[in-house]
Amino acid sequence: MENNQYVTVFGATGKIGSALLNFLSAEGIPAIAVTRDKSKAVALPFVEWVVADMFDKDSLYKTMDHSNAVFLSSAMGNHFVTEQQQVIQVAVETGVAHIVKLSSAAVGSSIGSSAIAASHGAVEDYLKAAGILWTILRPTGFMQNWLGEFSQRVKSQRTIEEATGDGKRAYIDLRDIAEVAGTILKAPADHAGNTYMLTGGEAINYAQLATMLSAVAAGPVTYIPLTLEEGRQRLEQKGLPPWGVQTFMAYAEVQRNGDAALVSSAVSDILQKPARTAEAFVQDYAAWFK
Ligand SMILES: NC(=O)c1ccc[n+]([C@@H]2O[C@H](COP(=O)([O-])OP(=O)(O)OC[C@H]3O[C@@H](n4cnc5c(N)ncnc54)[C@H](OP(=O)(O)O)[C@@H]3O)[C@@H](O)[C@H]2O)c1
Repeated sequence: MENNQYVTVFGATGKIGSALLNFLSAEGIPAIAVTRDKSKAVALPFVEWVVADMFDKDSLYKTMDHSNAVFLSSAMGNHFVTEQQQVIQVAVETGVAHIVKLSSAAVGSSIGSSAIAASHGAVEDYLKAAGILWTILRPTGFMQNWLGEFSQRVKSQRTIEEATGDGKRAYIDLRDIAEVAGTILKAPADHAGNTYMLTGGEAINYAQLATMLSAVAAGPVTYIPLTLEEGRQRLEQKGLPPWGVQTFMAYAEVQRNGDAALVSSAVSDILQKPARTAEAFVQDYAAWFK
C-alpha cells in the first residue's frame, strides 16, 4: 500500500460489498476489503484483504490509513450503531476524505422509528456531524431477498406467502446498488452531501411477482396473502429477535397500506441506464425457482 487512493470496503463478504468489490476490481480501482474471517476472502485483482472487527476500534486503523474513501455497510446486530460510528471515527482520524454509507429507504419514512431504520438514522446523523464528506444510499427491499427460503418455497410448493396484501414496492436488484456505489466511489466529490433513495424502476406486488415466476418455475406460482398476525407468527417461528419482528412487520404494514410504492430515478440518473427489472431478475436467477 503505497498511496492514499484505496477504497476501503466494509461488508466486503456481504451481498452488496462483494458485488461492489467485483465492480472496483473490474475498474482497476485498488480496494481494501475488510472481513473478520480471512477464510471468507475471495482473491480479486486490485483487492487486498485485511482482517478487522468494526467492534474493535484499534483493529480499524490498518484498514483505512491508505484510503481516500470508505464504503460503510454491515449487517444489523446488537452493536450495529457503535460499530458503524467507530468506522466513521477512525476514518476522520486517519484523514479519509469521503464515506459512502449504505443505509435504508425506511429512514425518514413513516416507519423511521422502527428498529432497523432508527439504527441507520442514528448513524446517518452521526456521519453528517463528523466533519467528513459523505454520501448516503437508502435502498428499498432487495430482490435478492427472494433467494433462499422464499425461492425454496416457490420451488417446492409454488406459492408466495406474504403479509403485504396487494401493496406494491419498487424492489431493487442489489447489483444496481453496488454499481451505484462503485460509480460514486470513482468520483465521490461529485456526490458529496447527497442522500439517494434507491429503488427499482417500477413498483410491483406479490401477485405480479407470482405471474413473473410462473414463467420460470416448474408450473404456475400462486400468491397466498397472509394476515398481519400470520405474518408475525412466521417471523417469530423463524426465531427472529423482537426488533427484527417489529421492523419486518412495520415494512409489511406500510406496503399493505400502499405507502411503499415510491419510485426514485436515482439509479437511472447515476448509472445512465434503467434500473434492472423484476422480470430480468427472475430470468437471471431462474435456476433458484425451478
Ligand atoms: N436486505 C434488504 O432488503 C435491505 C434493504 C435496505 C437496506 N439494507 C441494509 O443493507 C445492509 C447489508 O445487509 P445484508 O443483510 O445484505 O448484510 P450483508 O451485506 O450480507 O452483511 C454482512 C457483512 O457485514 C460484515 N460485518 C458485520 N459485522 C461486522 C463487524 N463487526 N466487523 C466487520 N464486518 C462486519 C460481515 O463481514 P464478515 O462476516 O466477513 O466479518 C459481512 O461482510 C444492512 O445494513 C441492511 O440494513 C438491507
